[in-house]
Amino acid sequence: MITLALSKGRIFDETLPLLRAAGIEVLDDPDQSRKLILATNQSDLRVLVVRATDVPTYVQYGGADLGITGKDTLLEHGSLGLYQPLDLRIAQCRISVAVRDGFDYADAVQQGSRLKVATKYVGISREFFAAKGVHVDLIKLYGSMELAPLTGLADAIVDLVSTGNTLKANHLVEVERIMDISARLVVNQAALKLNQAPIRRMIDAFATAVAR
Ligand code: ATP
Ligand code: PRP
Repeated sequence: MITLALSKGRIFDETLPLLRAAGIEVLDDPDQSRKLILATNQSDLRVLVVRATDVPTYVQYGGADLGITGKDTLLEHGSLGLYQPLDLRIAQCRISVAVRDGFDYADAVQQGSRLKVATKYVGISREFFAAKGVHVDLIKLYGSMELAPLTGLADAIVDLVSTGNTLKANHLVEVERIMDISARLVVNQAALKLNQAPIRRMIDAFATAVAR
């Protein structure tokens, strides 16, 4: 039995067409069912429904053989024990710095100044600002980052941007793009060695679906 870890929502929704292209159907809808282990039309493949931020953990410790996770989540988690064979080119967005409309970011990031940055992405932010030589105080949040500059909690946020609608609706502007993000297939390295043929088949099926 091969186990694939997915998170509900956009990763699950955008993975379904890739699975379908390989002739794989998931037999339950995680939005309709409380089941967390979903059967597929392949007797040797099941899907685990886990929190997006937990996908790398499940795969790293072998709770799942494979998983699909955003590059953002993977960078924050670290990739110990994870083989990353494929960029699936789904869940595409970017990770950016944003500030309140009217805030003088260029002035604030001058060498020597300290910037208060609220983010779920503490690791990515620390590395990005360190490389620029900007001193930052990082404030860890788990969601609704957009509120931080509006309430005085922080000067800036580091968050995902896709259409830009969330920033716009909250009177924030994107001032720097840190990197492009998309979802990656991750594989437990030990599982790949032990169960090579079926896992390789899954990797090849995803590769073919992405190339279509
Ligand atoms: P958790 O529930 O664990 O906190 P989450 O709420 O961030 O995770 P999702 O919103 O489903 O989970 O995001 C999963 C992944 O999808 C993110 O890690 C990112 O790679 C990508 N993503 C997030 N927001 C967008 C977006 N607006 N457009 C495209 N891709 C996105
Ligand atoms: C993500 C991200 C932004 C938003 C950006 O949130 O945290 O808030 O998408 O997308 P946009 O540029 O198209 O507006 P998501 O929709 O995943 O909600 P969440 O905060 O519940 O994760």
